[in-house]
This record gives sequence, C-alpha cells and structure tokens, in this order.
Amino acid sequence: MTTASLRGGDRVLHVAWPDGTSAEFPFIWLRDNCPSGFHPQTRERQFDLTSIPFDISLTEAALENGEIILTWNGGDHVSRYDPDWLFDHRPGIGLADPARVEPVLWRSDFEPDNLPRAAAADLMTSDDALRDFLVASKKTGLSIVDGMDNDKDAGMEIARRIGFLRETNFGTTFEVMSKPNPNNLAYTSHALPLHTDLANQELPPGFQFLHCLANEAEGGGSTFCDGFAIASDLRADDPHTFELLSKTPVPFRFHDTDYDIRRHHTVIDLDPFGHLQELHFNAHLAGIFDLPADKMEPYYRAYRKIMEMTRSEKYVMTTRLAGGEMVIFDNRRVLHGRAAFDPNTGFRHLRGCYVDRGEFDSRIRVLSRTPR
Ligand code: OGA
Ligand code: ZN
Repeated sequence: MTTASLRGGDRVLHVAWPDGTSAEFPFIWLRDNCPSGFHPQTRERQFDLTSIPFDISLTEAALENGEIILTWNGGDHVSRYDPDWLFDHRPGIGLADPARVEPVLWRSDFEPDNLPRAAAADLMTSDDALRDFLVASKKTGLSIVDGMDNDKDAGMEIARRIGFLRETNFGTTFEVMSKPNPNNLAYTSHALPLHTDLANQELPPGFQFLHCLANEAEGGGSTFCDGFAIASDLRADDPHTFELLSKTPVPFRFHDTDYDIRRHHTVIDLDPFGHLQELHFNAHLAGIFDLPADKMEPYYRAYRKIMEMTRSEKYVMTTRLAGGEMVIFDNRRVLHGRAAFDPNTGFRHLRGCYVDRGEFDSRIRVLSRTPR
C-alpha cells in the first residue's frame, strides 16, 4: 500500500510507494498540479499560480481509499492525488517518454544491410509496425523503406502516416532531379558532399524522406554519416575543436529570386543539458563567415577538421538507393550526400519531403499508448 507522510518544516510532502521508491514533492508544486486545476476535457492547466501565496502550507495530509488528500491553508482548498500519477511525475525524474530513444552511434563499419528496414505496405497498415520502425529509425537516425509503389505520392503518404509535412521554400515535396535553371545544387547532376539540409532555416527540417523513383544513371550513389558519432568523437578527442564548433555561430544563407533566408547557427548544437541536439553542416549553404578577423583562423581550423571527418573512411557509409526504396533520416543528426551522376546515361529521380522531429516523436508516443 502507498504511504504518505508529511515531513515537517521543510515544505515538502514525503511519499513512499510499496516498491521502496520514495520522493519529495514541494508544496508549491503540489498545489500547482492539483488535478482540479486542469480542464477535464482539454487537460490544460487553468489554475492561476499567482492566486495562492508562494509559501502555501498544508493543514492536513491523509491517505484515504488509495488517494492522497491534502488540505491547504486552514481548509481553503482540498487536493486529491492518485499516488500512481505522483509516482509518474517524481521531481527530478519527470514523466517517462516513449519517444526518448537513445541514439545508437554508428561509423562506417555499420553495414547498410543492417539499417532498420520495413516494407511500405506494413507501415501503411500496421500501427505496431510503424511504431517499432519509428523507434528503430530514431536509434540509428537512418532507415530504409522498401516495396514502395512506383507512385510519386507514395513517400508522402508514408510521411503523412507519421505527421504533417514541413513545408519549405522548395515546396511541401521536392523533386530531386537534374533540372534546367536549378536553384539548388541538389537539382543538378553534381556530387553533393555530406550535408544537413536547409541549415539556413531558423529550424532546419527534422526527418527527411527521400523516395527513389528511379536511379538508372551512371553514378548517383548515396553517402551518409552519423553526425552525432563525429561530434561525440570530437568531444572526446579534441575538446578545443568541439568547443569552437559548439559555441561559435556562423551564418548560413539561401537566396534566389524569391527568397533570402538567413540564420546563424553553431555547427554542433547542444541542448540545455549539454547533450548533442543537432548539427548544422552544409558547405554550399554556409554564408560568408563574419567572425572577427582574429577569430577566423582558429575557427577555420576547427571547421576544416569536422569537414575532413565527414570525408573520412571512418565515418562514411556508402550505398545506392534502388527504385522502390525510400531513405528516412534525421536531417539534424545524419548527414547525407551523393556522388555525381551522368544524366545522359539514364534517369535519376528522388522525391523528398520532411516531417519535423516534434511530430515524429508525437506519433511514437500516441502509438505507444496502451490500450490503443
Ligand atoms: C537533397 C539531396 C541527395 C540525392 O536533395 O538535399 O541531398 O541523393 N539529395 O540526390
Ligand atoms: Zn540534401
């Protein structure tokens, strides 16, 4: 049985659960999260935190019929909590997140044959298959769907099973093929060195979907590398370079006749906890560096070092997409590139779209709910 006991004077409620776990809940937190303060349908908080004194105190704490019942401030308000709910929200630990998947870093010894792979029909029809595949795709940051229909919209349909599409200045979907008057190097037949897409955006797109409709030209093989593996090796082996790349904002820019989209980013971006969050690495969209002159050489040294790592055999995975395959990758973690191809020898056409990380994670969480 759950037990609740009040620890006097220190403004926390001490709760112990039958499995031996215990936790302390500050009074202000408990009052802020009283279930009565949430709208019953929307589940959004309606309680006004400023309506109570900061040093709110308890008159009584009791455990009745499996509920923890707290009486505040001489009977002003009574709060009732489910001990399991309190367990799930323990301070310092917080709510478990099925979308929190630890990245499994990979280097070139990871074979393309070992990438997570799923059949398009399974992903379209089975929620379990979709959830398992999304989780696996988050681990490696890179996965393959096969058995795709030879239909221009097939990639978009799978992406939409996950979430709404991220529109960009290139459209909701984009055609990667050699085109006249290209506004993007991807729309030529040139090689593309490893990069993350749209580093010039305020928030570069999250997951990228590239459906290979045809890959019949000579050349046009794909390359990938795990930017998190590179960044974590740099962090361990060359902390000075890591520091420069994670603390120095540099400009990125895309401009054509309709747009001029610019943003400064660090090449390596850390989250507020210091974990790797994303990489911004795109030599063709890198703007004209605007660092003070005396910071330029040290920065260039660091920037060249990570650039060399993206070319290194240690990190680069080489593969070739076949018609009917679609590659999915976390564009803010995994860098992608391609070899040049000869458009006179055959047709090459990939169709792309993006779903941001937030929607991707949301789908994992919704598909992880029990019972569904
Ligand atoms: C892109 C891109 C890769 C390819 O469109 O951004 O990198 O294989 N394409 O053509
Ligand atoms: Zn790209």
